Amino acid sequence: MESYFVVYSAISVAIIYAITKHLLNRIRNLPPSPALSLPIVGHLYLFKKPLHRSLAKISDRYGPIVYLRFGSRAVILVSSPSAIEECLTKQNDVAFANRPRLLGGKYSGYNHTSLVWAPYGEHWRNQRRIASAEILSSHRLQLLSEVRADEVCALVRRLLKLSTESEDQVVEMKSAIFGVTMNNMMRMISGKRCYGGDEEDKEARRFQETVEQSSRMGGATNLGDFLPILRWLGVVGSEDKLKKLKEKKDEFVQGLIDEHRRMDKEGSLSDGKKAAMIDVLLSMQKQDPDYYTDEMIKSFLLSLFSAGTDTTVGTIEWALSLLLSHPNALNKAQCEIDERVGHDRLLEESDNLPYLRCIINESLRMYPVAPLAVPHESWSDCNVRGHFVPRGTMMLYNIWAVHNDPKIWESPRQFKPERFAGLEGNRVGFKFLPFGVGRRSCPGEGLATRLLGLTLGSLIQCFEWSSVCREALDMREGGGISLVKLEPLQAKCSPRPSMKNLLSQI
Ligand code: HEM
Repeated sequence: MESYFVVYSAISVAIIYAITKHLLNRIRNLPPSPALSLPIVGHLYLFKKPLHRSLAKISDRYGPIVYLRFGSRAVILVSSPSAIEECLTKQNDVAFANRPRLLGGKYSGYNHTSLVWAPYGEHWRNQRRIASAEILSSHRLQLLSEVRADEVCALVRRLLKLSTESEDQVVEMKSAIFGVTMNNMMRMISGKRCYGGDEEDKEARRFQETVEQSSRMGGATNLGDFLPILRWLGVVGSEDKLKKLKEKKDEFVQGLIDEHRRMDKEGSLSDGKKAAMIDVLLSMQKQDPDYYTDEMIKSFLLSLFSAGTDTTVGTIEWALSLLLSHPNALNKAQCEIDERVGHDRLLEESDNLPYLRCIINESLRMYPVAPLAVPHESWSDCNVRGHFVPRGTMMLYNIWAVHNDPKIWESPRQFKPERFAGLEGNRVGFKFLPFGVGRRSCPGEGLATRLLGLTLGSLIQCFEWSSVCREALDMREGGGISLVKLEPLQAKCSPRPSMKNLLSQI
């Protein structure tokens, strides 16, 4: 009898709490919200994996701006081009330029000071300026174009070797793409390769694994961020894990800094290493040691590593998977490359290949690797579409929902690269935003565009591709915050007959 009474009272309290909360929200004119927000967990009970799809369903039901509670945190979910424009570029662009203080930002973001996790303000603005004017500027990217060409050539050689060893050789494409991207990032940042060839470096390989693991734990997926009670009770182990991963990454990058500083003193830095991003930052340290501390340099470089690697790898993997499932598109891309580049040289970043561009855009539309961007937070009270949004509200914008909305894109789940023909810049507007928009949009877009075009284009130019399975390729999405393939791509490749002559010389 007593236990009935306890259950009955608990349910009554929960219902009264939910109704009162709902009425209060309406009085405050907050955006629409699913009615039942439970004590402690709020709306968390509504979500399934993958989160971007689950949130898209909520937006379908409640509209382009929805007010939610992720446990103790207030969140607005924004899911239409015009609402995103209103939040991130019009009157509210500054109001939403802040980042929430999440566990990922505490550990991976050097106590919320890194470029990705710093609050909106002087320090973040400085880092953005350094990123766009010094480190990721067109000039610097051009200086490092040989590094990228060299690494992609090494990938082609590796695949060539594998494919000639056996006709039925199955290639783990995810790890091959990871290798080339990681090597590229490492060499641009520190002049040093990660793995492959004679220079295999176990320490660098471990670092790669650490970066991979921590980016899986970034974003808005740590339950401890929303249910602090779990942290106090020590129930969620992710905080300890994040701390350990941070220490490992820190130690590795400190090692690189010490090595470069020593080589600079000895005058033994090679030309390749002098152009590396780490040396640009170390030379700035000489001018202003109080600002460019080792801590600041480490957090800055790790931001680029973490934000730039998984995203680029994921996009190439999705694009290649889509091409394997759509041989006509693959064939069309090969014809374009044959026509514009020919068979006597490898494709270069500067080649103008509009259809390849359309394939990359279409892949980014269907599978935007950062489907919910990085969480934002309002740092003042503001008004969105006539609704009140209080200061300190976390804001998620659902890029996946916009890219896959049938009201915006005809047959959005069909792969049609042609839809991007002639659709560039202003003509796309806010319906295509794989790199985000506004003040915190991706500063690495220029680098990513170069890496995507060069790597995918070279794979298409040099090899014939086929799938390992007879049935349709598995295109299921994994469950994390970034949009990765559930099953890593495996494929078979063989050198294209028209390219054999050139490939025998590289
Ligand atoms: C932020 C996408 C590659 C560096 C972001 C955001 C998105 C994004 C959606 C969040 C925008 C927001 O919060 O509003 C992508 C995609 C990539 C890519 C799709 C590749 C296909 C890169 C690369 C780098 C990079 C190569 C650098 C080397 C960053 C940084 C931020 C960021 C530092 C945080 C900016 C800030 O908070 O001010 N990216 N990115 N990204 N990205 Fe990328």
